[in-house]
Amino acid sequence: MSVHILAIESSCDETSAAVVDDGRKIRSNIIYTQIATHKAYGGVVPEIASREHLRKISSVVKLALEESGLAPSSLDAVAVTKGPGLIGSLLVGLSYAKAVAETLEIPLIGVHHLSGHLYGGVMSAQDMEPPLCALIASGGHSSIVYMPEHLRFEVMGETRDDAAGEVLDKIARSLGLPYPGGAALERLAEGGDPEAIDFPRAWLGPDSYDFSFSGLKSHVLNYLNRAAMKNEEVNKADVAASFQQALFEVLSKKTIRACKERGVKQLILSGGVAANGRLKSMMAEHAEAEGIRFHAPPKILCTDNAAMIGSVAYYKYLKKDFNSISLNATANMPLQNE
Ligand code: KG4
Ligand code: ZN
Repeated sequence: MSVHILAIESSCDETSAAVVDDGRKIRSNIIYTQIATHKAYGGVVPEIASREHLRKISSVVKLALEESGLAPSSLDAVAVTKGPGLIGSLLVGLSYAKAVAETLEIPLIGVHHLSGHLYGGVMSAQDMEPPLCALIASGGHSSIVYMPEHLRFEVMGETRDDAAGEVLDKIARSLGLPYPGGAALERLAEGGDPEAIDFPRAWLGPDSYDFSFSGLKSHVLNYLNRAAMKNEEVNKADVAASFQQALFEVLSKKTIRACKERGVKQLILSGGVAANGRLKSMMAEHAEAEGIRFHAPPKILCTDNAAMIGSVAYYKYLKKDFNSISLNATANMPLQNE
């Protein structure tokens, strides 16, 4: 008998609900993105995000159930993102999940958003079981994680300042691209030369797995400002390509070094930035050279979605690791063992 889990994700600006069987088979994965609403403000406005979640959550969950072909009475558990994220947004998903759990009298399972991103990789890879390493690069996080077994995580390194997606979005904005800029910057960079400008790489010492991108960000912004002040034309495609090159080189080299350090032969790239084709091919190349199996999930499982939350919840379900109805949402929480 399969385990059917209804999952809800509402940590930032996507309202999502999914039904997942046995942690891997996606019956439905509905994602309503608020990007169009926040675009006018150049970033996510927390209060607007909460109100949009409130407006959409019921129809998104109903659609996910409908598409799954399952009756609510067939569900075994309801999973929900408990944090980190925008607190008002998290509370909408959590309250809805609690109501479902109470009504159907099924267990409630709270899931960490970052373990969700990691399992977006695990669930979409054929036969990929831990031990493995993962780079989670999103709008809010850049972390290298070692996963010796299911639900066990060691954060080997993380960003000390801006997250990779955050820097991509900021530079994209200064290049005149709309929010969120990661994907638009990738398209712009396709016509540029990644070696045209030598932007700095912050390695932070030979043993560090941490990242720091604020120096790179300032350098690119200064480059653009200096040119503007002198009324000089810049080749925006070259700036985009060279900036991506500097950012991705640090992300991939450090992650591969982490795999070698832990003697791990499998690597997952996940989080919104994992949608980037250039980063994927760079990491795939480095991994292959070291005999490491590399996997990046399809785009739909890279950016925020509920299916990844349903995948983590399955492994928690097997351990009967359930939450009480008093589960709270937390805006800031480090990735810990689930
Ligand atoms: O995981 P995600 O959907 O939300 C967070 O949890 O943050 O990640 C969003 C981030 C944004 O910074 C966005 O610009 C970036 O992922 N992103 C990309 C691409 N698509 C989305 N970055 C680079 N290349 C892309 N194709
Ligand atoms: Zn995310």
